[in-house]
Amino acid sequence: MKNIVILISGRGSNMDALIAARDAGTLPVNIAAVISNRPDAAGLETAARAGIVTHYVDHRGFADRERFDAALAECIDQFDPDLVVLAGFMRILSDGFVRHYAGRLMNIHPSLLPAFPGLHTHRRALAEGVRIHGCTVHFVTPALDHGPIVIQAAVPVLDGDDEASLAARVLREEHRIYPQAVRWFAQGRLVVADGRVRVTGEQAEGAALVAPQER
Ligand code: GAR
Repeated sequence: MKNIVILISGRGSNMDALIAARDAGTLPVNIAAVISNRPDAAGLETAARAGIVTHYVDHRGFADRERFDAALAECIDQFDPDLVVLAGFMRILSDGFVRHYAGRLMNIHPSLLPAFPGLHTHRRALAEGVRIHGCTVHFVTPALDHGPIVIQAAVPVLDGDDEASLAARVLREEHRIYPQAVRWFAQGRLVVADGRVRVTGEQAEGAALVAPQER
């Protein structure tokens, strides 16, 4: 079974979705640890309650990004992960860190990349008047919110939406696609070539692109 380490900075609802999928038997991974850059991240408590090893490496204790990233990598590597899963981990990562985990570092971002990298994605989507918004799971490369796309889910932007209602609609899809992406990884079904991800095996075609849905 593949070993994963989950990195969080806050409430950890995507982490919850991964734990729930594991508990339901639909995500065959060992969640070796949950690590945060914030000692007070609410998700650390949830993870501990679920019996998962937790750690924090407080970024405020380091003089620069490289030193923090090195300490974080040291903490992660004691768990020998096949995959490091960024689940609301709100830190820009150094090139060295990203290179160290090349091909085994995944992120979820609350927009249909390459649209709206960075922060405040829902606010910016509303300001631009887009009719379709969503979320993306991708392998991480040194460029911010960039890298081979594993899966995306789209949602409509409805008249009367505000940042909170749009964020909630997108978050429901995040909780669906992140376990799916990690499941494919765990099953050894993701092949990356020329910056693109292919999902191999049964029902791979079409499964990689989730149609717009309103629930
Ligand atoms: C999620 O919406 C995730 O996509 C986003 O932070 C939120 C974390 O929520 N991540 C980023 O913006 C990364 N660039 P969670 O802690 O409840 O999973």
